[in-house]
Amino acid sequence: MNNFQFYNPVHIEFGKGQISKLSKLVPANAKILMTYGGGSIKRNGVYDQVKEALSGHTLIEFSGIEPNPKYETLMKAVEIIRNEKIDFLLAVGGGSVIDGTKFISAAVNYEGDPWQILAHRDVSGIKDPLPIGAVLTLPATGSEMNGNSVVTKAETKEKLAFGTPAVMPKFSILDPEVIYSLPKKQISNGIIDAFIHVLEQYLTYPVNSPIQDRFAESILATLVEEGPKVYAEPTNYDAAANFMWAATMALNGLIGVGVPQDWSTHMIGHELTAFHGIDHGRTLAIVLPGVMRVKQENKREKLLQYGERIWNITEGTFEERLELIIAKTEAFFHSLETPTRLSDYEVPASTIDKICDRFEQRRITAFGEQGDTDIQQLRMILEDRL
Ligand code: NZQ
Ligand code: ZN
Repeated sequence: MNNFQFYNPVHIEFGKGQISKLSKLVPANAKILMTYGGGSIKRNGVYDQVKEALSGHTLIEFSGIEPNPKYETLMKAVEIIRNEKIDFLLAVGGGSVIDGTKFISAAVNYEGDPWQILAHRDVSGIKDPLPIGAVLTLPATGSEMNGNSVVTKAETKEKLAFGTPAVMPKFSILDPEVIYSLPKKQISNGIIDAFIHVLEQYLTYPVNSPIQDRFAESILATLVEEGPKVYAEPTNYDAAANFMWAATMALNGLIGVGVPQDWSTHMIGHELTAFHGIDHGRTLAIVLPGVMRVKQENKREKLLQYGERIWNITEGTFEERLELIIAKTEAFFHSLETPTRLSDYEVPASTIDKICDRFEQRRITAFGEQGDTDIQQLRMILEDRL
C-alpha cells in the first residue's frame, strides 16, 4: 500500500426524517442562502421540510442551478451573496447543486476572475470560502462528502473541475426517502456513476492493499445487488438506503487512499457532456468499456480480480475473460436501461477529433494510472465505442 493522508470532516446525518435536524446543524445566527435546482424539491416535499426546519432562521433562496451547473448562473449567486452579506450556504439538491454551491463558496472572496479556480485549478487563491451544508436529493456523485466540484462554462462549452478540502460541506443530510421521487433515468445514472467512481480507484494495478480492494469490491457488489432493486422499486426504503450510502462511500476519499487511481473514463466522459449534453453517468457507461479494452495490459491483474470477485468469471484465457468481463459490465448498465455506444446518443465520429484536439490543447497527453495513455490511445478508446 502507498503512503497516504486521510481527512474527512463531513458530519453525516443519515436516515428517514433527518432533514428536521437542520435547525441544530446550521449556526443559529447565520444569514443563509439556500441554493437549489429546477424545482424538484418543491414537488417532492423536500423544500417544505427544509423551510419548516429553518423557520426561525434568516433565509434567502437562489434557485435555477441547472444539471451540469453553469458558471454564468453561479456567478449570479456570488453577486447576491456579496450584496446581502450571506454567511452560510445550504445546498439542497443533487451533485450539480452541491458542486455549484462549492464553486459559489470559493468564488465569493476570490481575488481576480473566479474562472481561474477552474481553468488553472487555482485553489490556493481561494480565500475565506463560505461554510456549506447540504441536503442530498440524488445519490450519485459523492459531492455531499468530498471537496470536488465540476462546473461548465456555457459560453465555451468547457466542463472543468477543481477540488479542495476548503469547500467540503460542514454537514450533509442523507435521507433515502428523497429517492422516491427520482426519475428512473436519474437512478440509473446514479448507480452507474457510483459504480464507475469505484472502478476509477480500483481498476488499476495491485499495490498489495487487500483492505482497500475489499472496501471497493463491497461497494461494487452492493451496487450490483441493490441497484436493480431500487431501480425497479424506488420506494423500497432498504434498497434506497443501501444505494445512497454506497454512492457516498464510493467517492468520499476512503477507498482511494493508498492505491493508484485512473480517472480517464471521467476525463473523457466530461467532454461528451460538454459537447453533447449527455448525462454524466451515461457518458461513463459509454467510455468505460473502451478504457478496459485499450488499457487491458496495464489493468490486467485487477481486471481478472474484478472479473472473479464481482462477476464470478474464473475460467478461460485472459482475452476470453476480458471480453466476458466487458460484456457483463455492459449488461449491468443495459439492465438499467442505459445504452453504452456513442451511436446510441447520435454522437458523430467527428466528435472524436474534437475531443482529441481538446486534450492536446490542454496538454493532457499522458494520463491514466501509469501516465501512459496518449492521444492515440484516447482515439482508440473512443473509436471502440462508435
Ligand atoms: O434541478 P432539479 O429540479 O432539482 O432536478 C434534478 C436534475 O434535473 C433532478 N433531481 C435531483 N434530485 C431529485 C430530482 N428529481 C426528483 N427527485 C429528486 N429527489 O435530477 C436531475 C439531475 O440532477 P444532478 O444534480 O445534475 O445529478 P447528479 O447528482 O448526477 O450530478 C451530476 C453533476 O455532478 C458532477 C457531474 O459532472 C455533473 O455535473 N460530478 C460531481 C462529482 C463530485 N462532486 O465529486 C463527481 C462526479 O464524477 C461528477 O463529475
Ligand atoms: Zn462521476
